[in-house]
Amino acid sequence: MISKLNKSSTKEFIYYALNDCRKKTLKLIDELDDTTFRNQYHPDFSPVGWHLGHIAYTESLWLLEHSAGLRCLFPQYRKLFAADGLPKCERVQLPNLAEISDYLQTVRDKVLEYLEVADIEPQERLWRFLIQHESQHCEILSYVWELAKRGKGVGGQGKNITLNTQHWLNAPLPLTARAKRPATANSTSMVMIPAGEFEQGNNSLDALDNESLCHRVYLDTYWIDRFPVTCGQYREFMAAGGYENTEWWSDDGWQWLQTERVTQPLYWQSDRSYDNHPVCGVSWYEAEAYSRFVGKRLPTEAEWEKAASWDAQANHRRTYPWGEEMPTPKYCNCDRLISQTTPVDAYPESKSVYGLFDTLGNVWEWTDSWFAPYQGFQSYPYVGYSQVYFDNQHRVLKGGSWATRPWVLRASFRNWYHPNVRQVFAGFRCATSFN
Ligand code: AVJ
Ligand code: FE
Repeated sequence: MISKLNKSSTKEFIYYALNDCRKKTLKLIDELDDTTFRNQYHPDFSPVGWHLGHIAYTESLWLLEHSAGLRCLFPQYRKLFAADGLPKCERVQLPNLAEISDYLQTVRDKVLEYLEVADIEPQERLWRFLIQHESQHCEILSYVWELAKRGKGVGGQGKNITLNTQHWLNAPLPLTARAKRPATANSTSMVMIPAGEFEQGNNSLDALDNESLCHRVYLDTYWIDRFPVTCGQYREFMAAGGYENTEWWSDDGWQWLQTERVTQPLYWQSDRSYDNHPVCGVSWYEAEAYSRFVGKRLPTEAEWEKAASWDAQANHRRTYPWGEEMPTPKYCNCDRLISQTTPVDAYPESKSVYGLFDTLGNVWEWTDSWFAPYQGFQSYPYVGYSQVYFDNQHRVLKGGSWATRPWVLRASFRNWYHPNVRQVFAGFRCATSFN
């Protein structure tokens, strides 16, 4: 196939990325049973089958209809799979898995046919968007899978679930993650980020609409944790009555806690061998409460991004903390290669110029910032992608998790969820303005 394309490296990249992404999507579901396929495990998360149909629908709408000028191949799916079609609770009336697989495949075949003849340069941003769109829905499938395993949510049954994740369990851990070493993460390990300007955001073709425009931001001196907060550290908060004592919680946080009545993170690992792993499955409120408990606060998005990506000496932002090389298993825990968290110091190669570890991959990190547009923001490719979420109800998360596809891992990437959400593979690190 590659040889049939002209020698445009852009096309080859797009072709490779589309295939790589799809291969992994299909691998995730290759032993999917019908119950898991159509069950809604949590009111905030659509069924697996809906995500699959929606991936095909979005690709078809933007590449086949808008770009290639073809007519809609499956008009009967428009209402069901459009992002603004049905409320999540009505997304359980799905065609069966065979029909959805056929939908994905038929659309993809046409897309690859079109890729051969498309004038790719003016459309590059759109193709890159679609690769990242599938990547993100794929990560959400990982959340649904965790919810299914726990048998929680709307009519959820904790048994008979089969998403095929076994093959990932055999992936070798990087040497650094396997080695038994003393923990280097401890509560006093913070890095000072000197006052000054840096560049926030990203104007590249890869960047999503909410990452533009890139702009300079001045920040006063602050301190930020070298590592994400670990299970071992979080255990001290729990042991000190963190979940029973109002003093560390904001009003909204305490109110949330009274309704939810949780006593530990959703993906809590009580086994001490996880003490050097990042805490995972906390709401923004829990992250906020822990930060107060240790006398710190959550970093703003700008503080996180500067510490992860700014090279002050070169007066330049880096795409990744380590430079410009795409994420690989050498740099971080991503792409479900390990299928769970790893110790926060397992990837010394991931270090940012300022010395932060583990900013990309492993767990998403909550920040103190509301999701809001940068100066000069323009919706792309549709208003529903980012703009409808600029409502001061969503907090920004940075960095990506162990389930994040490499196509959406970068320091400028912005994720967002309501502060009460715990199903995302999210942890946090703390900051402070004082030494
Ligand atoms: C960025 C993960 C919050 O799930 O709503 C997928 C990603 N946007 N399709 C979401 C997304 C449109 C988005 N998040
Ligand atoms: Fe979507």
